[in-house]
Amino acid sequence: EKGGYEHFMLKEIFEQPKSIHDTMRGRLLVDEGVIKMAGIWDHVEKFKNANRIIIIACGTSWHAGLIGEYLIEEYARIPVEVEYASEFRYRNPIITDKDVVIAISQSGETADTMAALKLAKEKGAFIYGICNVVDSSIARITDAGSYTHAGPEIGVASTKAFTAQLTILTLIAFKLGKHNGNLGNAEFMSLISELDAIPKKIEDVLSATHELTQEIAKDFIGATNFLYLGRGYNYPAALEGALKLKEISYIHAEGYPAAEMKHGPIALIDENMPIVIIAPKKGHYDKIVSNVQEIKARKGKVIAVVNKGDQQVSAMADYVIEIPETSECFSPIVASVPLQLLAYYIAVYRGANVDQPRNLAKSVTVE
Ligand code: M6R
Repeated sequence: EKGGYEHFMLKEIFEQPKSIHDTMRGRLLVDEGVIKMAGIWDHVEKFKNANRIIIIACGTSWHAGLIGEYLIEEYARIPVEVEYASEFRYRNPIITDKDVVIAISQSGETADTMAALKLAKEKGAFIYGICNVVDSSIARITDAGSYTHAGPEIGVASTKAFTAQLTILTLIAFKLGKHNGNLGNAEFMSLISELDAIPKKIEDVLSATHELTQEIAKDFIGATNFLYLGRGYNYPAALEGALKLKEISYIHAEGYPAAEMKHGPIALIDENMPIVIIAPKKGHYDKIVSNVQEIKARKGKVIAVVNKGDQQVSAMADYVIEIPETSECFSPIVASVPLQLLAYYIAVYRGANVDQPRNLAKSVTVE
């Protein structure tokens, strides 16, 4: 059932070209220039007239939510807030019937997310679900929703569900933006054809980085800390890279927006600190270049995720992972893949049980 892979996690990482494609199937109709999503379309006025959208989730799904905020604010120009379900539910949040709440949950059973949704529903908000498990508890209490069609995710560390969530959030942002006039037709058309090409790009990334991430992983088996940095859309991707590593390898890892480095974490940097930095060409590249200079001045070990043909960051980095170029909004999908592989191999070489890490459960049904 692992399809020849050593672990479910590796199988699921490799399934991503297909799971992203399946999530877009029937929704992204490039030739017709449309995105079809009944759940959105049937309630489009709710979204259009919303005061704001509140995204509620936990863990990896919360990271997807953060990227959703960048997407929806940029392309649909609707204000978005992203909340940890556990914080939201206990702080008497201000919610009205003009709010739209989007819950993101792979399992659809996370207790905190469920409780937060019930609270928002009581207060009259319109509730939208993005779940992977069909007919799960969250999917059942929402007013509408879109399933991610990632297929069953067995590994406790979420991988293909995450990139499927990003796919749905991208479709939602583009659909709303097109509808409310913030996303012009030409840009819409070019974005959707690029989105259509993402599964192929992921396939290329998998074959180009599978061996490389194993080589890099070997050098960090003894690491005790890691920093992950990214800016803009790739800041949540940095958080997610760090979460993957800590969950399965038990190495302490922290994700940060790269510019925040000088407000604290820079104090940690010395020759023993590995720093994964996501530095694609589109997305504040020059700023990232200076972050890398600051790290190298303190002898930190830089593992850089850059675009093919990159020069400036690559010249300074100790390890270079190349990914194909894409619009900034798609870069977290592409950049996440080698980070999943890196975390996976570090954990495997440390002898950890990657599919069932200690202390963790696949769905957290208690608070
Ligand atoms: O099923 P959910 O998406 O609601 O789960 C949320 C988190 O528990 C989950 O993403 C957790 O952080 C994963 N183990 C991350 O890999």
